[in-house]
Amino acid sequence: MSTPLTGSVPPDHPARRQDPNVETASAVARGEIGEAALSSSLEAARGEDSPVLEEPVLTVEGLNIVYEVGEGVHAVKDASFTLRRGEILGLAGESGCGKTTLAYGLNQLHRPPARIVSGAVTFHDRDEGTDVDVLGLAGERLRAFRWSKVAMVFQGAMNSLNPVLSIRTQLGDVLTTHRPQMDRTERRRRSEELLELVGVERRRIDAYPHELSGGMRQRVMIAMALALDPQLMIMDEPTTALDVVVQREILQEVLRLRQELGFAVVFITHDLPMLLEISDRIAVMKAGRIVELDTAENLYFAPKDDYTRTLLGSFPSLTGEAGDFVRAGFTQDDAAPAGIADQESSS
Ligand SMILES: Nc1ncnc2c1ncn2[C@@H]1O[C@H](COP(=O)(O)OP(=O)(O)OP(=O)(O)O)[C@@H](O)[C@H]1O
Ligand SMILES: [Mg+2]
Repeated sequence: MSTPLTGSVPPDHPARRQDPNVETASAVARGEIGEAALSSSLEAARGEDSPVLEEPVLTVEGLNIVYEVGEGVHAVKDASFTLRRGEILGLAGESGCGKTTLAYGLNQLHRPPARIVSGAVTFHDRDEGTDVDVLGLAGERLRAFRWSKVAMVFQGAMNSLNPVLSIRTQLGDVLTTHRPQMDRTERRRRSEELLELVGVERRRIDAYPHELSGGMRQRVMIAMALALDPQLMIMDEPTTALDVVVQREILQEVLRLRQELGFAVVFITHDLPMLLEISDRIAVMKAGRIVELDTAENLYFAPKDDYTRTLLGSFPSLTGEAGDFVRAGFTQDDAAPAGIADQESSS
């Protein structure tokens, strides 16, 4: 296979005209082949061994979150889903639909006036082999849980690095706090290893935040999130503040790390084409409610909810010329599946 795609395939690129998936998708539309066959052909096109396991890492049941202001804002309504170990779940939906509120709620990171009024979040801990009632955690147990089991990277996180401390000190601090048994040498080794893991050269470890680019700083934040080998990463628009090329590089890195380390991801972004590329499944939210949750393929080829169709339709790159791929194994020659236009014309 050729090198992974790092930019858009231009509309007139020969790869688009030769795209075997376009032909396959049309065949599905004509009823000549089943969707199962199509899915497996997409999987073959990806050419990767999926790291997603059957067993769940997180179960969310009937979660309701309200902002207690004025008459109250019911920001998350009856959210239920199961996240599998190693799975990337994308959260899509327009601004204000409740994505961040839901993501924060999963980790009890929500702050007043937000309040979880009902529901359950259960974390299935691989390390201890136990089920953790996340909403029942408080104090020290909650703090330990947040870093070591479920880590969070949010938009602009790179700006939360302390400007007067070196990267070595800041990575080391996470380890000092949460792995007090680690000695200094071991901490140094682990900090350097973490930096390298996210694609920043080891020698940058003594740099201060202002000496690094925005992309590098966001990588450092991802390294911090990975420091304690979490089983779930919640990423809320982690690359939105960065330019497109750097975004893609970082996403490829996240996909590679997920493959290597097996953590699950809840990924939030406004960029639906990108979400379709990187997610195993996508939950579409509208006004606080998950209106559709399906595999990226099903959502793309056969959206069931009207709102999903509207959302897909609002990205020109999806209706005509499909987006690019950042998943490992995708190449320019693989181009992209098409089918939204078919969906729209048939509905
Ligand atoms: N501190 C707050 N007080 C009151 N209402 C809030 C507060 N924070 C968020 N909300 C409301 O909760 C709803 C969900 O907000 P949330 O930030 O979760 O949306 P989002 O999907 O993450 O949006 P975006 O894509 O813009 O980040 C919105 O109606 C918002 O106005
Ligand atoms: Mg948000």
